[in-house]
Amino acid sequence: MQKKVSKNFKTLNGEITIPADKSISHRAVIFASLADGISTIRNFSDGQDPKSTLNIFRKLGVDIDIINKSTVIINSKSKLLPPPNSLDCGNSGTSMRLISGILARQKFDSILIGDQSLSKRPMKRIIEPLTLMGADIQSKNNNAPLIIKGKTLQPINYKTPKASAQVKSCILLAGLGTEGKTTITEPYLSRNHTEIMLKYMGADIQTEGNSVSISKSKLSPIDIEICGDISSAAYFIAAALIIPDSKVILKNVGLNPTRTGMLDILKQMGADIKILDEIEICGEKTGTLEVKYSNLKCCEISGEIIPRLIDEIPIIAVLATQAQGQTIIKDAQELRNKESDRITAVVTELRKLGADIEETPDGMIINGKTDLFGDCEVETYHDHRLAMSLYVAGLICKKEILINRFQWVNISFPKFEKLFDTLKV
Ligand code: S3P
Repeated sequence: MQKKVSKNFKTLNGEITIPADKSISHRAVIFASLADGISTIRNFSDGQDPKSTLNIFRKLGVDIDIINKSTVIINSKSKLLPPPNSLDCGNSGTSMRLISGILARQKFDSILIGDQSLSKRPMKRIIEPLTLMGADIQSKNNNAPLIIKGKTLQPINYKTPKASAQVKSCILLAGLGTEGKTTITEPYLSRNHTEIMLKYMGADIQTEGNSVSISKSKLSPIDIEICGDISSAAYFIAAALIIPDSKVILKNVGLNPTRTGMLDILKQMGADIKILDEIEICGEKTGTLEVKYSNLKCCEISGEIIPRLIDEIPIIAVLATQAQGQTIIKDAQELRNKESDRITAVVTELRKLGADIEETPDGMIINGKTDLFGDCEVETYHDHRLAMSLYVAGLICKKEILINRFQWVNISFPKFEKLFDTLKV
C-alpha cells in the first residue's frame, strides 16, 4: 500500500490515548500461558507482532479467548503441548527470542519460523547461551528457522556482551523451568518488563544492578491492564514538537524508566513536555504527557541511554533534522540488527527528503535545522518504525511524499494514521 503524506492541515491539537505496549503485551500472553489458572489481559495490543505470539501459544495447546476485541482470557494448566506444525513468529524478534527459551526446555521438539526480515536477524545471541544451558538448537548460519529439540537444561551464570531485553528474557524464561539459579548480567540495563511481570506473578527472581537471577518457579495467573506504548507515543511527541503551534495531550503513556530515554534526551534538546499525572499498574508506571511545539537544539546520544531509546532512534533522527546544530548518535550499531538496518535505512530515506544526515558505523550525524523538501517516494524496508518515522517527516515536507509499503505500520500500530487524523486541525 502506497501512502501519500502532506501537510494538508494547520497544526496538531487535541487529546489521544496511546494504544497498548507491544513488549508488555507479548510478555503478558507468554507468562500467562505458563501460569496455572485463568489470567485476564485487558487492552491487549492490536499489532501483528503480539498476535503472532498469541497464535503460537494457541498452537502449543493453551486455551486463549479474545473478548471485546482487546481482552484476552488465558486458561492455562502450566503445561504446553507439542505443536502440530511449525510456529510462525512473523516479523517479531521478541516472539522468536523469548519463546526459544521456553521451547528449549520442553519434553517435545518444535520449529520456529519467521518472515523474510526476521529470517535474516541474528539468533546466535540466544542460541549461544541456551546451548551453554544444554539446549539443542539447529539452524543455518544462526538464522531462523530454529529447530529446537526439547532438553532438560542446567542453570548458567551468563554475561551478555550487549544490553538486550530479548536475550535477557530468553535466558530468564529458560531459567524459570530449570533446577538451580540462573543469572544474567548485561553491560547496561535494558527494558525490565520481564523482571517486573515475573515478580508480580510470583517467580523467584532477584535483580541487583545489571544482573538478574531466577530459580525454578511456578507462576500465578495475572489480571493486568496493559499501559500505552511509549515507542508508539514517540511519533506524536515528535510531530507535536516540530509542527508549529501544536499542543497535544497523550494519555496512558508507559513511563517505565528503562523505556524513557527519549524523554531525557528531549529535555536536553529544549522540548516543552510535561508529565501531567502518573500512576502505577502491575508495577509499570504510566501517565499523561502534554507536548507543545518547541525550538529544539542538537544533542549527543551514546552509551548507557541507547537501550533506553533504541526503538526511538529513527524518529529522533527526524527530530534532529529540525534541531539547531549537529546531533551525533553513536554506540548504536545494534540498530543494524533490527527489522531493517535502521542506520542505512534512515540515512538513505531522510536524505531523499533533503536532510543533511550521514551514516557512521555505529550511528549517524545529523546537521540541523534543514527544510525537508519531499516530492519523492520513500521505502519502508519491512520495518514499521521506518514507516511511522517517514510519515512524521512527510508532515513537515514542503511537498507531498509517497511512502511505499506503508502497511508495515500494522506490525505495532494499526490505528496510527487514524489517531494522527484526529489531531490534525
Ligand atoms: C524488545 C526489546 C528490544 C526492542 C524490541 C522489543 C522486547 O530489543 O528493540 O523492539 O520486547 O524485549 P533488544 O532489547 O533485544 O535490543
